[in-house]
Amino acid sequence: MANTESKRRAALAAIKHVEDNMVIGVGTGSTVSCFIGILGEKVRGGLKVLAVPTSYQSAILLSEQSVPLTSLMDHPSLDIVVDGADEVDPDLNLIKGGGAALTQEKIVASATEHLIIIVDSSKLVQRLGETGAVPVEVIPMAWKLVKTKLEEKGARVVLREGTGKAGPVVTDNANFVLDAYFAKISDPGSLESELKAIPGVVENGLFIGMAELVYVGSDKDLKILRKK
Ligand code: A5P
Repeated sequence: MANTESKRRAALAAIKHVEDNMVIGVGTGSTVSCFIGILGEKVRGGLKVLAVPTSYQSAILLSEQSVPLTSLMDHPSLDIVVDGADEVDPDLNLIKGGGAALTQEKIVASATEHLIIIVDSSKLVQRLGETGAVPVEVIPMAWKLVKTKLEEKGARVVLREGTGKAGPVVTDNANFVLDAYFAKISDPGSLESELKAIPGVVENGLFIGMAELVYVGSDKDLKILRKK
């Protein structure tokens, strides 16, 4: 069962990878928010790092915690990236984008050799798509066309709606998000490429072969999963 203690346990494990003078990528979501809180304590205690955020949420939290920000323009290569996930399969493939930050998250993840994922145990699945949708970020004028193309691939597709705003969620990149529910994803790598090839798709939430290490917190202990 997901709780704050589980997320904190995973975040505390990830913080051990952060060393003085590193430039780190920082993901988005509630587990990463926990990591940012711990990172802030370290920075106020003298740790010197620069952080590349993956969303307005992370940028604001990092700034509130006095963690200095930088960008991929100044630092296109990152020492490590710490991020959360919505699903993790046994090969450490991921679904991300529950917070609609998938595009910047995937770009930032691609800037390191060391993507460290922090999750609670509710995120572990045998097969991607088991508990939720594959988020697909789309250019607004193309959303209906892309929805049809995804349906042709067998998905049930929902245009993500916001809370605190009428109408669709608008991402940090000013796009829409389609949530594509596939009955069975047997080859996530091929699906990732297929989704990328649809005109109008900016990015999709399948992160294949990118994670090096996954810390899985529960209320009792911490599990470590490494890339084979
Ligand atoms: C943001 O778009 C996502 O990729 C998050 O990293 C993912 O949804 C995990 O979020 P939580 O840590 O809040 O579960």
